[in-house]
Amino acid sequence: MISPSEFIKESIENIKNEINNEKTIIALSGGVDSSVCSVLVKEAIGDNLVAVFVDHGLLREGEVEEVCKTFENRLNFVYVDAKDEFLNALYGVDDPEEKRKIIGKVFIDVFEREAEKIEAKFLVQGTIAPDWIESEGKIKSHHNLALPGGMVLKVVEPVRDLYKDEVREIGLELDLPDELVFRQPFPGPGLAVRVVGELSEEKLEICRKADAIVREEIIKNGLDKELWQYFAVLTDTKVTGVKGDQRDFGYLVVLRMVASVDAMTAYVPELPWNVIRSISKRITSEVSEVTHVSLSISDKPPSTIEFA
Ligand code: XMP
Repeated sequence: MISPSEFIKESIENIKNEINNEKTIIALSGGVDSSVCSVLVKEAIGDNLVAVFVDHGLLREGEVEEVCKTFENRLNFVYVDAKDEFLNALYGVDDPEEKRKIIGKVFIDVFEREAEKIEAKFLVQGTIAPDWIESEGKIKSHHNLALPGGMVLKVVEPVRDLYKDEVREIGLELDLPDELVFRQPFPGPGLAVRVVGELSEEKLEICRKADAIVREEIIKNGLDKELWQYFAVLTDTKVTGVKGDQRDFGYLVVLRMVASVDAMTAYVPELPWNVIRSISKRITSEVSEVTHVSLSISDKPPSTIEFA
């Protein structure tokens, strides 16, 4: 790649020529790819870019606030609270692929409504090189996307030739916060793939609290740089425990911490036992619904990184 500052200059010029100040929309998740794209396109076409942040209610603790704080003054930013819409659509569904399908569909519905409101002509996507190389070049560089309601948008992909580490360099050059640039990957369907079985607000909140403890301890102990992903999974299993002198029957939480280069394969590295123990103790004492914490030691393959 050319230097980050050269890339940014060239990219802004290309985007200006391609979009020509037409109304443009991006789904901003707060991950590094969509964040870098949002800022690049904003530099090129100003407020003709509308960055839509859809809150599906499946985000981690503090995430909504962080994304809003980072972008509401920097972009033409729209926060959409779609929590109820997603949770209602997911009610009673426990199959992981079914959950993913529903989330994808509701997401498109919500996003299309926003695109219609602004009469968008272009859609910016944060596709990076592995996304299309892995799908054997099936995603064309210039293409249109037809939304289910009939809207057709021209797709612009400013970082499609870059790899993750290069996107991060561009993010730093654009003055995005370090926590965002180096944030661990978080899947689009969010906590829905980390709460096994049917979702409920209560289960999501338990997973969110346990996950916040995992993140806090891993970062505090400086392990975040060597791990690709580190998170808590809320299983659908309940196990007996003791709280005080009372027997209790609560959830089993699994800690998943893997090292990887590209998520195609992953392994569980040796982890400092004191950190694992303090994460476990904190979760069982601070999240009252949890009676048992276990550590996943399975690599990918044969396991996947996510649990659902
Ligand atoms: P698995 O669980 O397949 O995950 O080993 C590999 C990587 O992909 C992420 N992942 C997803 N990302 N939508 C996404 O945007 C999904 O449905 C999804 N499922 C898994 C996962 O977090 C890991 O980084």
